[in-house]
Amino acid sequence: MSDVPLQGLRVLLGVTGGIAAYKSADLVRRLRDAGADVRVVMTENATRFVGALTFQALSGHPVRTSLWDESAEAAMGHIELARWADLVLIAPASADVLAQLAAGRAEDLLGTLVLASKAPLAVAPAMNQQMWAHAAVQANLETLRQRGVRILGPASGSQACGDVGDGRLLEPAEIIEMLAAERGPRPFAGVRVLVSAGPTYEDIDPVRYIGNRSSGRMGFAVAAAAIEAGARVLLVAGPVDLPTPAGAARIDVRSARQMRDAIIGAAPEHDIFISAAAVGDYRPQSISPSKLKKSGQPLALELIQNPDILAEVSGLVGRPFLVGFAAETDDLEHQARDKLERKGLDMIAANRVSTTLGFERDENALLLLWAGGREELGQADKRSLARTLVDRIARRYAAGLAAP
Ligand code: PMT
Repeated sequence: MSDVPLQGLRVLLGVTGGIAAYKSADLVRRLRDAGADVRVVMTENATRFVGALTFQALSGHPVRTSLWDESAEAAMGHIELARWADLVLIAPASADVLAQLAAGRAEDLLGTLVLASKAPLAVAPAMNQQMWAHAAVQANLETLRQRGVRILGPASGSQACGDVGDGRLLEPAEIIEMLAAERGPRPFAGVRVLVSAGPTYEDIDPVRYIGNRSSGRMGFAVAAAAIEAGARVLLVAGPVDLPTPAGAARIDVRSARQMRDAIIGAAPEHDIFISAAAVGDYRPQSISPSKLKKSGQPLALELIQNPDILAEVSGLVGRPFLVGFAAETDDLEHQARDKLERKGLDMIAANRVSTTLGFERDENALLLLWAGGREELGQADKRSLARTLVDRIARRYAAGLAAP
């Protein structure tokens, strides 16, 4: 990514009331480092957390806090400011401002500017996890999403109030990365991408199952990167605890056979299928209807093979462009190339299973293989790795379309 990925972008940054407002100061600095020109508008509540002077010093421009400031209106009036912006970004966006935006209320300067501006709107929510989960907040978000508002985050983790969960403001660097990615090329514009992610669980009895260590992070990052690249994405997710990437449709499944049914049903409607899920190869022949009891004797479970979803999609008439993953402990390249050929794939992303990479980790490294080619993508966090992977898939996909 270039050092000034937002060069010349005129960002109207709305800061609303919440403890995360302190992070917006760093956001202003980073936006400017990335080449953006930033003007800050604060709600009255935001000024209770951080002083306007901080934002004035960092942005290099006076900060607006009220619709009724005569001297500010004489300099750059609010309508002029709304016209000036290439992007309106609200970070942090409180539950209250989301409600105000969803209702289209112009009761303060920020609400008025949003209505008066033709610029795209992005919001980075930040609030307590219980507030984030509230049906009213989620309904407001859905309204905004349907209106084309870009929802950035939130992140998950420990919160200022002591709770743990979804609702943290994304880190400023992540916000910049997401904005920059949207300004970049959109090679998947108009392309429909199906992504599978996470593990599958095979029930043994009402309380036990056979599963695997996939967290879903790799597949969810691939879905998010495909959206950034302009794709319409359907994500088929095994049992994971991850928020849906903004803009993706999602089907949740549990077992390999449920995943198979969802994917076989959706595949004909998609141009590309990226299979990042760690699908269980075996399941118990039968599920005990009651909890299995200890008997003092060894217990043998009879396992039967699950359908191979990728291989089945590969056999469909008019199948999508197919990208598989391979998780291997030994002989990575040889095993992955064998899977590429045996399953009839267009590309495979091989990763070594280790204690620091791959399953359950934030970082990964991939070896990409296709007929007659290979490329190593070095160790990186899964989000940036997914962006590079999507870029490479887009190139191979386009090359395939161009071939006679
Ligand atoms: O989820 P994370 O914690 O982020 O970890 C990411 C990951 C390590 C799970 C991911 O990067 C990965 O490697 N996913 C594929 C793991 C896997 O099951 O590999 P495999 O070699 O067993 O399967 C090869 C391919 O066939 C995969 O694309 C798999 O989705 C597919 N498959 C496998 C079995 C099966 N019955 N049906 C399938 O479609």
